[in-house]
Amino acid sequence: MTAKLLDGKALAGRIEDSLRDEVATFSRMAGRVPRLVVVLVGEMAASASYVKSKASAAARVGIEAEVVRVPATADTEALVELVGALARDEQGPADGILVQLPLPGHVDTQRVLDAVPADRDVDGFHPENAGLLSQGRPRFVPCTAAGVQRMLIDAGVETAGKHAVIIGRSDIVGKPLALLLASRGTGGDATVTICHSRSENLAAICRQADILVAAVGKPGLVTADMVKPGAAVIDVGINRIADAAAKGGSRLVGDVDFAPVAEVAGAISPVPGGVGPLTVAMLLANTLLAAELRLGQGQR
Ligand code: GUN
Repeated sequence: MTAKLLDGKALAGRIEDSLRDEVATFSRMAGRVPRLVVVLVGEMAASASYVKSKASAAARVGIEAEVVRVPATADTEALVELVGALARDEQGPADGILVQLPLPGHVDTQRVLDAVPADRDVDGFHPENAGLLSQGRPRFVPCTAAGVQRMLIDAGVETAGKHAVIIGRSDIVGKPLALLLASRGTGGDATVTICHSRSENLAAICRQADILVAAVGKPGLVTADMVKPGAAVIDVGINRIADAAAKGGSRLVGDVDFAPVAEVAGAISPVPGGVGPLTVAMLLANTLLAAELRLGQGQR
């Protein structure tokens, strides 16, 4: 492998180290620790595993995380009501409220997300937070997008004037990341192209990328012939594929055909151990920010 490995796990550990101090400072001033409430609907194994990582990372930095488990049969009304009760602090102060996605098919996801007040929206999904980001005055930035930008900055990957190609136009990753990379300042000032399932000549566009981000959820989507020599390749995909040789009969892969691409790219993030741990670290940072904003408003 010739590419530099972008170790998200190590970077997340360093971010946690500084957050731990900041959380301790907050807790001394506020007389309580920051608190995150995660709503987990149903029994999806992947969601349960992500939520577990979020809760243990929170504990490592001194943030209290409560997971509220709800049966998969819960309807939209019940979930909107639950989020409303959390936002009224009926079950203790909820600085950050996160509804783990995806929700079951019968639920109106947008209505449930809209029930999370903008000032507790640590996912950065609320229209007010999306609007602030698009205006270049970010408050809560979606965690994965923030994590990708942080990874590029930390690795010293130049973004100013460079061509960043993002495959994927989701509200969670593709769109906010495009805004971050195109914004003014450190980790920004890039020329950004968003590609998606209807894009023609995907491979040719990707080959122009100095920074290539895959955020689709399709194993093997990015092959070595789509990568410009020396490019930074960031893999946001998390896919579980069958592998008889692996423990449990399956393993995690990203959207990038890792080994061949690592021979062409200048830098590459692995899956697992790349963007995933940074997403969690950014959630902790957003939760501390939510707690600080609330304290600043004179609320306990
Ligand atoms: N499911 C996958 N990624 C995310 C995320 O960033 N936030 C939430 N709430 N659910 C997710």
